[in-house]
Amino acid sequence: MRVLSGIQPSGELHIGNYFGALVPQLELQAQGEAFYFIADYHSMTSLRDPEERRRLTHGVALDYLACGLDPERATLYRQSDFPEVTELAWILSTVTPMGLLERAHAYKDKIAQGLSADHGLFAYPVLQAADILIVSPDGVPVGQDQKQHIEMARDIAARFNHAYGEVFKLPEPLIREDVAVVPGTDGRKMSKSYGNVIPMFASRKATKKAVMGIVTDSTPVEEPKKWDLPLFQLWSLLADEAERAEMRRRAEAGGVGYGDVKKDLLERVLEHFGPLRERREDWEKRPDDLEDVLAEGVRRAREIGGPLLEEARRRCGLGRG
Ligand code: TRP
Repeated sequence: MRVLSGIQPSGELHIGNYFGALVPQLELQAQGEAFYFIADYHSMTSLRDPEERRRLTHGVALDYLACGLDPERATLYRQSDFPEVTELAWILSTVTPMGLLERAHAYKDKIAQGLSADHGLFAYPVLQAADILIVSPDGVPVGQDQKQHIEMARDIAARFNHAYGEVFKLPEPLIREDVAVVPGTDGRKMSKSYGNVIPMFASRKATKKAVMGIVTDSTPVEEPKKWDLPLFQLWSLLADEAERAEMRRRAEAGGVGYGDVKKDLLERVLEHFGPLRERREDWEKRPDDLEDVLAEGVRRAREIGGPLLEEARRRCGLGRG
């Protein structure tokens, strides 16, 4: 089975990205062929600072490696090193109905958040369809929020195949029901745009500030606590099943103070990400090795994507044929 997924370099990754995207994606690298890429073209829809884009793109590559991407096993590349993707995006855009794009939740949400409505943002799902279809994956591991984008990619692939003949495989969205949406410190979904994140690799001080800022309620220490508070949900991500059961029992019985749970959560975050941080720092010292990984990654991706694009071009009657 071949899988593909990508992450946008539009901010420092946080524990929501880790539990919601990186962990489920990387678990699949053992099961077959895995392709992961850093969606730097996509980040252009929200970020205009070139230095920042380069820094964040490098950062996401480091994050993948820190979190266990094994370059011997999986393929990691930078989207912008793969020019076939943008050509395919154009081709696909000509079979994509406006109405399909107009129904995209992600687009509507971003406009509601104040992003300007430019063509890139509107066409984002077409570029995403190109990312996916160009490597012909069987499955695309994503969070629930990306389900519609994967369905759009399938729809666009089917329209192309209908117009020009069978070229693209329709990929399955791989959405894990057991991966909960990670709440942010204010209880909404953890997201950079809400400013409610717990970063993955921040300093102890910054991590502490985020953890201590998790909203709770005013239930006194002795009283029973609500288990569905974001504090307990976040804590649960870093505990095993027996610890969770015990904490739940104690919380619901009363006598647990939020401050103590926060302190314990802080230690768990630092402890969990400690070894990953070391691996990240180790790669950070070897930027040339990192570039070698990306170069080898894009070579493998283009080995699949090049001929597929060629076939699409031929079917469309482009070039000499
Ligand atoms: N839109 C995805 C997100 O915001 C990122 C992404 C871009 C992606 N291209 C992709 C994910 C292709 C999976 C496959 O999370």
